[in-house]
Amino acid sequence: MTVPSPSPSPSRASDPALRLAAPAKVNLFLHVVGRRPDGYHLLDSLVAFAGVFDTVLVAPPPEDEGSGEGEGEALSLTVEGPNAGALADLSGDDNLILRAARALAEAGGVAPRARVTLVKRLPVAGGIGGGSADAAAALRGLYRLWGLTLGDGPMLDLALSLGADVPVCLFGRAAHMTGIGEGLTPAPSLPAVPMVLINPGVPVSTPAVFRDRSGPFSHPAPLRDAPINAIALANELILRRNDLERPARGLADAVGDALALLTDQPGALLTRMSGSGATCFALFGTEAEAEQARAYLAALRPAWWVERTVLVSDARALDAQA
Ligand code: C5P
Repeated sequence: MTVPSPSPSPSRASDPALRLAAPAKVNLFLHVVGRRPDGYHLLDSLVAFAGVFDTVLVAPPPEDEGSGEGEGEALSLTVEGPNAGALADLSGDDNLILRAARALAEAGGVAPRARVTLVKRLPVAGGIGGGSADAAAALRGLYRLWGLTLGDGPMLDLALSLGADVPVCLFGRAAHMTGIGEGLTPAPSLPAVPMVLINPGVPVSTPAVFRDRSGPFSHPAPLRDAPINAIALANELILRRNDLERPARGLADAVGDALALLTDQPGALLTRMSGSGATCFALFGTEAEAEQARAYLAALRPAWWVERTVLVSDARALDAQA
């Protein structure tokens, strides 16, 4: 497995910053296959992305612009966008983007000097890896800004130290994920299936969901051939599941509500929760059916986050839209 070298799209002419897409990740299935002695759960999951994303902009700090490189730390993070309000204490050391920046600077032997802007559109703590995607995008941008030459292995180790979902977000392509997130192999190519994502606005605690999981561990059958269309993909996925759905429903009624609403939509081929919730998704055979479901759900639940998008296998292509 190799992490593709960071390759943000060229900056816009009027904007000196590198712009990177931090797309939602979607667990098409997620089986809990065991538990490590330290309490972390071992997973077997097919992870892809969706065409909805936060944008991360990375630029030199103002004092370095035009005057070469300064010394010492000069790191700032500004958060804007529709979901910015959901992120508390932006400057805190537990902010994943700042932690990622400092860890990367240390690994690369450079001073952490950058101005990072996050345009936050994805729901926070929603099971679609928003924070992990933001950290991975920041790593890609800062890697390029600082001209680093760390290899794939150290980058994946660094990503894993930030969170179990950060490696797959850094990998940026649909992958079969094992271990707690460190085992990544490219998935067979997946069709760009129309999908609707909904989040009921109830944060679900990932540790609590894992803690409430019970019963025997389950092992998904290996994916057979690459599914050629939405129906073939849905037929593969229906044989597998998300083992965290049950505990998440127990913690938040809204998860069951979201799944039931999606399942009722005409044309919904498969409905499932992503990650530890509460975001759920449905796959559709046509864009028209997906749009009809989006419009209906957005009107029915105006306070919820409802998005129509497509399944994305290669998240790097989204940098051009960021
Ligand atoms: O690594 P991340 O921050 O995503 O994980 C949050 C918490 O979720 C962990 O501290 C752990 O309690 C739980 N977790 C787990 N097994 C995983 C991933 C997360 O038990 N594979």
